[in-house]
Amino acid sequence: MVSLTHHIVEQRRLQPDSAEEFSTIINRIVSGGKSIARDLSSAGLSDRLGTTDAKNVHGEQVQRMDARANQLFVEAFQDCDIVQIVVSEEMDEPFVVAHAEGSGKYAVFFDPLDGSSNIDVNVSLGSIFSIHRLDSTGNFLKAGCEQVAGGYLLYGASTILVYTCGDGVHQFTLDPVAGEFFLSASNVQIPARGNIYSVNEGNSSKWSKNMRNIVDYFRDDDKETGRPYSSRYTGCLVADVHRVLLKGGIYLYPGEVQKPEGKLRLMYEAAPLSFVVEQAGGLGSTGVERIAGIHPKTPHQCVPLIIGSREDVEVAEHFLCRE
Ligand code: AHG
Ligand code: MN
Ligand code: MN
Repeated sequence: MVSLTHHIVEQRRLQPDSAEEFSTIINRIVSGGKSIARDLSSAGLSDRLGTTDAKNVHGEQVQRMDARANQLFVEAFQDCDIVQIVVSEEMDEPFVVAHAEGSGKYAVFFDPLDGSSNIDVNVSLGSIFSIHRLDSTGNFLKAGCEQVAGGYLLYGASTILVYTCGDGVHQFTLDPVAGEFFLSASNVQIPARGNIYSVNEGNSSKWSKNMRNIVDYFRDDDKETGRPYSSRYTGCLVADVHRVLLKGGIYLYPGEVQKPEGKLRLMYEAAPLSFVVEQAGGLGSTGVERIAGIHPKTPHQCVPLIIGSREDVEVAEHFLCRE
């Protein structure tokens, strides 16, 4: 079995120095992820369920495990001298790693725990990460196409890690006995078209007419194009996108008439997941432009997200380009 560390060294795209740096960063992410998986597996026994009395920068109630996951990832980088900045959904301001003052070359962006409404009911959760290199002026707000790496951990029936550094998409599964991640799929390719759509239809009254027409299209009966598609929605972006990555189809979290920017965050949800899906041959879009080309203005900015099989996303874009 191929270990994660061995696999990173084999990555053709990474130059020797950055392979070592990348390995350092990904191993710290893995360390945080293993601790989160451990805490989730016994959350009901260790008073980790339920909410804190805090709200995050998006005005969302912070769950205890959100705060715990954030703490674990920040701790994982506290003594790291190559990561200068940690940005997290659960922290209003970027965390500057004191140990890396002057030597830090990277910024790491986290959604420390994704799908938080699932925590108390034991449904899948994820962690999403994106790694950027600081530019010469110390700027770390860069477009998705400039990511050094992006990926996610999925805490489901098994705990898996999926990442890309621009040389294909690779999946690792945590061996709970060895406590190590081993390669379970390499160069993952997304089907050109699927038969599953994933969206919270409870929001449909808030959508534009064209957005409702997209969902009606996937629900219409048309044998020639394999419709109607099945509907699957877990409330965890990572779990729904991972299903789309392996089986094909489309996940949509669109903008709303009153909130055109949508709910999902560019830097630590849409951009890293789009990097993974596009490296697998799919597409990550707002509905009118590629996620990868968006130049961020703020660390927590939101974007609409339509992601998945290229042909399915292009159908959705066709409906929305009429807006
Ligand atoms: P987070 O838990 O990090 O806030 O992310 C939740 C996201 C995403 O995981 C999920 O697909 C979506 O929000 C669910 O939103 P709704 O409950 O509005 O469907
Ligand atoms: Mn999330
Ligand atoms: Mn989250």
